[in-house]
Amino acid sequence: MSEFKIALIPGDGIGPEIVAGAVTVLDAVSAKFGVKFNYEEVYMGGCAIDKYGEPLPQETVDKCLASDSVLLGAVGGPKWDNVPAKLRPETGLLGIRKALGLYSNLRPSILKPQLAAASPLKSEKLEGGLDIMVVRELTGGIYFGKKTKSEDGTWASDEEKYSVEEVRRIGKIAFETAMLRKKRVVSVDKANVLESSRLWRATMIELAKEYPEVELTHMYVDNAAMQLAINPAQFDVIVTSNIFGDILSDLSSAIAGSIGMLPSASLGKSKLGMYEPIHGSAPDIAGMDIANPIATIVSAAMMLRMSFGLIEEADAIEAAVDKVLSENYRTADIMSDGMTKVGTKEMAKLIAERL
Ligand code: IPM
Ligand code: MG
Repeated sequence: MSEFKIALIPGDGIGPEIVAGAVTVLDAVSAKFGVKFNYEEVYMGGCAIDKYGEPLPQETVDKCLASDSVLLGAVGGPKWDNVPAKLRPETGLLGIRKALGLYSNLRPSILKPQLAAASPLKSEKLEGGLDIMVVRELTGGIYFGKKTKSEDGTWASDEEKYSVEEVRRIGKIAFETAMLRKKRVVSVDKANVLESSRLWRATMIELAKEYPEVELTHMYVDNAAMQLAINPAQFDVIVTSNIFGDILSDLSSAIAGSIGMLPSASLGKSKLGMYEPIHGSAPDIAGMDIANPIATIVSAAMMLRMSFGLIEEADAIEAAVDKVLSENYRTADIMSDGMTKVGTKEMAKLIAERL
């Protein structure tokens, strides 16, 4: 029997509830397909600040590195808003991405037909369907560039810096992802203004020669934001820098209806990945059993597919989610007339049963 070790980072807010939901479903996968998952819970974010005085204890990094993959709920909350920058829960998240070498972040935005009404866009804008993969560079750029603050506090700066090597490796992920999809990559930059973007664009153009089947086009980030809002069906794969990807992936997920539905995968050189819902820790609804666990459940499906090679099992999870939605079960965030409202635990249980 194949066995996999999963580090669980429940985190803060609704994190523990949605991770528990994913474990319910993983256990059902285990029972049905005869694979074994060994879980180890570790601390990161606000809960780690409370317990260890730091958002990312070394022990967490070590345990994650010793696992086959990491499943993360969410971190952060108002409780830690006033701690120094170095101690913020978000610093833990950035730190673990860096420590695990997770330079690529894949964020799919898919609008399921069952949820078409949930998109804020008019239905005619969605006629071509919506199936976008944002490939975001995750360990470089302005997030990790040199940070400076003048001694007198009158100015501060953050450096946006990319090397050819960093751009190439994220570009490769995008082209390879596109090869499995509609073979179209839009590289998003601000090459009309930024030197780092000009290097980005030139590197993508060079790399494209290695993927003659893939069509590469370029868009400035401001235009890309507009195009996502007015004609999202034109996109297949979007590849972009850390900061632009942060912004555009929120936009592309918003047009897909509910951010409670969307997973993400962060990957590096090895098979070890970190999988998490794209939404945050929603502290306002924490502990109320109303959060939508689906984003975390489909993140677990991505983990099975991309890190463990368990394709049939991953497909089964996604099919079970579709089935439950087709049976009109909804959590509060995706509720509409005539649907049956269920809580976090119940939603996870229904999905596990449909497996
Ligand atoms: C995300 C989040 C993080 C980011 C924050 C919480 C540091 O917004 O994963 O998109 O900016 O990368
Ligand atoms: Mg973000």
